Amino acid sequence: MNQLFFKSSLVKKYVVALTGVALYGFLLIHTLGNLQIFLGSAAINAYASLLKASPEILWGFRAGLLVMVLAHGLCAALLAIENRRARPAAYERIPKFGSTVASRTMLGTGSVILIFVAYHIFHFTVRATHPDISFFHDSHGRHDVYSMVVLSFKQPALSLFYIVGVACVCFHLSHGVSSAFYSLGMVFAGYERLISRFALAVSVFIFCGMSSVPIAVMFGILKLVPS
Ligand code: HEM
Repeated sequence: MNQLFFKSSLVKKYVVALTGVALYGFLLIHTLGNLQIFLGSAAINAYASLLKASPEILWGFRAGLLVMVLAHGLCAALLAIENRRARPAAYERIPKFGSTVASRTMLGTGSVILIFVAYHIFHFTVRATHPDISFFHDSHGRHDVYSMVVLSFKQPALSLFYIVGVACVCFHLSHGVSSAFYSLGMVFAGYERLISRFALAVSVFIFCGMSSVPIAVMFGILKLVPS
């Protein structure tokens, strides 16, 4: 029975780690894609329309993303419940040596990310939250993603919401990336510090890349252009 419990926990750890790595890959590509906005409206609009060129690939990709988010969240929540049940009540108040704020708040930041991503999809993909600024087309007849993003982030509250959301994602990643290395058995003695620095570096890169878009709009670096 104990062995079965251990095995199923191990499987869940692998699922959390592998889906986390895949979602991290998506986020990295999304950050690089978003940075194309600095190349001008033609570049980002062409990129966005290229992504939607094949409905089969687009919907296959979206379905894969959804399955990964669900599997990641479900297995992480089940592991947290199992860990809590396995912990003797007497030890509950013992300080958690070696843990960090990021590691202790993974479920909390994960839940905030879910809410952020749900809003984000309704905002930019479904285009339901700001329909008045989300359905323009450029001179090539493509969806004008550039104008939609700039007009959105001209609203300071929305920009702030995105910066906080992205900060939450990156805080989660700062522990998640190194945790995935451990779960997949890829940590070798002496490399622990290197791995946690790598995790921090990728989180900072994604934070700077993502938040640079609303910040650039607020400071007038990215502005509306006639299309
Ligand atoms: C300031 C930061 C961000 C900006 C400017 C941004 C921009 C965008 C835009 C414009 C789209 C719609 C693309 C289109 O349909 O043409 C999009 C879709 C999406 N974004 Fe972001 N994004 C940001 C942060 C994030 C973060 C932090 C996450 C995940 C944690 C994320 C996850 C997604 C997902 C899942 C989609 C839907 C992809 C699809 O349509 O299949 N984004 N984003």
